[in-house]
Amino acid sequence: MDWFQTVVLSTVLSASWSAEDLTFPPGFMFGAATAAYQVEGAWNVSDKGESAWDRYTHEHPEKIKDHSNGDIACDSYHLWRRDIEMAVELGLHFYRFSISWPRLLPSGYPNYISEDGKNYYSNLIDGLLEKGIEPFVTMYHWDLPQSLQDLGGWTNPLVADWFYDYARVVFTLYGDRVKWWLTINEPLVMCDFVYNNGILAPPIMSPELGAYLCSKNVLVAHAKAWRLYDEEFRPKYNGKVSVANHHVWFDPLTPDDAELAELAREDCVGKYTHPIFSTTGGWPPSIEKVMEEVSLKRGYKSSSLPAFTPEEIALVRGTYDFYAMNHYTSRLIRKAKEGETFTAWPLGDAVDLGGIVQRRADWPLSTSFWFYVYPEGIRRQLVWLRKQYGNLEFVITENGLSTYAGLDDQDRIDYYKNYLRQILLAIKEDGVNVTGYTAWTLMDNFEWMDGYATKLGLYEVDYLDPQRKRTPRASARFYADLIKKHALDSVTVAPPNVTIV
Ligand code: BGC
Repeated sequence: MDWFQTVVLSTVLSASWSAEDLTFPPGFMFGAATAAYQVEGAWNVSDKGESAWDRYTHEHPEKIKDHSNGDIACDSYHLWRRDIEMAVELGLHFYRFSISWPRLLPSGYPNYISEDGKNYYSNLIDGLLEKGIEPFVTMYHWDLPQSLQDLGGWTNPLVADWFYDYARVVFTLYGDRVKWWLTINEPLVMCDFVYNNGILAPPIMSPELGAYLCSKNVLVAHAKAWRLYDEEFRPKYNGKVSVANHHVWFDPLTPDDAELAELAREDCVGKYTHPIFSTTGGWPPSIEKVMEEVSLKRGYKSSSLPAFTPEEIALVRGTYDFYAMNHYTSRLIRKAKEGETFTAWPLGDAVDLGGIVQRRADWPLSTSFWFYVYPEGIRRQLVWLRKQYGNLEFVITENGLSTYAGLDDQDRIDYYKNYLRQILLAIKEDGVNVTGYTAWTLMDNFEWMDGYATKLGLYEVDYLDPQRKRTPRASARFYADLIKKHALDSVTVAPPNVTIV
């Protein structure tokens, strides 16, 4: 029996909720998501180039929980028709998937476009549209061509031009049919997780420099791609482009830690959103200040967070058509005591901010070591974002629970219900303009350092079957029903104050 089954006594609270309260606004879109490296497999089929994740998992199987890799994964490269069928079974309005840069451009550069790569995504897009499902395309979900990684990857400022060239190919090939675009998935993970923790690809530890070079380059890369779309493709195709950020919500441990919690929000989220969504642009002033102080203390001559030039500030500011929010989990933060030691941020403590990060005792732990369940966090995060940047169009581009195997995943259903209820509260009580929701994930897949050991899928995938049979879980039926009714049929809440070890 897993933690949620043990602990969560689902309580129906419909008494205080009218049917209207449980209904999503007209036009609200529901989707599900995957990412290329996590599902496609076919890592060296046809002329596909090697990605940084291919290299990492092949050279460091010991870094992955079950020593696995994405060589075959769900084999979606061959089984994409079944993936579309699943999207139809669920009644999805859109399917979010990502394009593998080295599958399309094997060398990383646009000197050569793979015919098979091009056709693969084209068929997937056409297949979805035939069924009335919108393709919602992420251009980059962490599988950088190894050729570009060898040149410094996201720490090399030239990456912004490499990404711009790749973006032009993608928009040219698919812009006529794709109306929803995400340039880059989760700069926080690509930069802070990677260079601070050394546990994702590329395995490079550079907490004091690499993480910040990456932070700036990723923003400039996104902005160049957005401006390219805006100037050359929007007039013809009229689609929407944004960047998907990862949001960990921070609460202060005590009232004394309120300022620190705000700083943590700026560091985790604001660092990647203030430059784009604020009216002033550039780094959040509070983070700029802290980084300067910390860098000087560490003996650097200037801040490790590279400054934007005035031209770069103008280039990045305003490069969005909607706000894309990935959210899973929350944290508490408190000031570190004299001499207390830190573990690395963002999976551990907020070293630069002098903050110790922890969870509240009643937040259950999922099967991912970083992931505690706190449904209110999503609402509070949305309200914070609206306060910072105004009432933009918000789309939840990822949300879901990691569990053990099994088809009867009541725990996942509870998670979805609880988080969706908070989104409804944000819409109806706080007036936040949320227009879409994306379940992560359509099917079990390669869960990065957890390999195949952790499950997040609405569909279970049988990895022992060469056909990678996909079977709907109870949560798939729940989700299909929710989409059909356009409403939750009841709300469940976890009992408060339960301590789970
Ligand atoms: C990533 C997904 C990942 C999910 C669950 C997100 O941050 O975008 O690729 O599978 O978290 O770990």
